[in-house]
Amino acid sequence: ARPKPGVPDGTPMPYPMELPSRPRRNRRSQTFRDAIREVNLSPANIILPLFVHDGEDDLPIPSMPGAFRHGWKTGLLAKVREARSVGVNQVVIFPKTPESLKTSTGEEAFNPNGLAQRSISLLKDNFPDLEVYTDVALDPYNCDGHDGIVRDDGVILNDETVEYLCRQAVSQAEAGADVVSPSDMMDGRIGAIRTALDESGFTHVSIMSYCAKYASAFYGPFRDALASAPAAGKKNRIIPPNKKTYQMDAGNYREALREAVADEDEGADILLVKPGLPYLDVVRALRDASTLPIAAYHVSGEYAMLKAAAEKGWLDERESVLETLLCFRRAGADLILTYYGVEAAQWME
Ligand code: PBG
Repeated sequence: ARPKPGVPDGTPMPYPMELPSRPRRNRRSQTFRDAIREVNLSPANIILPLFVHDGEDDLPIPSMPGAFRHGWKTGLLAKVREARSVGVNQVVIFPKTPESLKTSTGEEAFNPNGLAQRSISLLKDNFPDLEVYTDVALDPYNCDGHDGIVRDDGVILNDETVEYLCRQAVSQAEAGADVVSPSDMMDGRIGAIRTALDESGFTHVSIMSYCAKYASAFYGPFRDALASAPAAGKKNRIIPPNKKTYQMDAGNYREALREAVADEDEGADILLVKPGLPYLDVVRALRDASTLPIAAYHVSGEYAMLKAAAEKGWLDERESVLETLLCFRRAGADLILTYYGVEAAQWME
């Protein structure tokens, strides 16, 4: 050890510390940090959610700057072309249903000529190798704004809803969907949808189950985008103001494992956790409990938070987004649904 300035000769030197382990050695250069990084982020992991409406123009969504309700067909095709050019080859379609087509049982959900079905076919016709995911739930089609059928006394009916979800999933498969994604949280829907698909000749269509979907305030901007919020107080019937009788309570962890076991037994191919960042412990729990691929949804409210902070100059958008998505991977997510899909893939290069 070299003498330290200002220390009298003969004083025992405390440096270097006798450390058997110096973790900083492994962080000393970018090359080495890259070499030993435990997880990586690739456009291949991304699923891009796309809103679509039955009109021409791409319409901005005020609470989701940079995201649009894409016009069917031109805008939708252009966005998918852009995504593919940066390596994002998976999308999930969310159609905006005109109020005039909404009913209390949401029949539009399985209209063979509905916007969802037309969008799926359009995409598969133009891009046969694009992986097209769909959303299975009644809320965008239901005049009450719930994922299931609302009885006159305000109860969300489970078993009756599942029958409608099966018809919706089969209709999406007929249109060409690769993966149907039930986001409704009714009990028993995965097994029922698997049987319905198989009986209709769609054994090759996968199911991504929204297995641990929490009743969350972070879905607000999404419900703006589709005008799909619960219609409580707007009808002369009882309509619950929130989705807490079917989506999970934010305080619960063990319950996610119970849902995962059930969905896996019923034939789910992918398990999804939603929202994302506040629920990374649940992502890790499912990763450790299941051998299935795990998806995490970086939801509309999480997107809005980052956009708002970036617009104010309070966060570096690129760094914050890439860090967020990498953390999903570290927690154990194979697939990440994010409205930042295209930008993130560009930034990854
Ligand atoms: C429909 C559905 C919702 C989201 C995905 N599918 C809304 C909800 O459950 O109320 C939310 C996605 C987001 O906020 O980005 N059941």
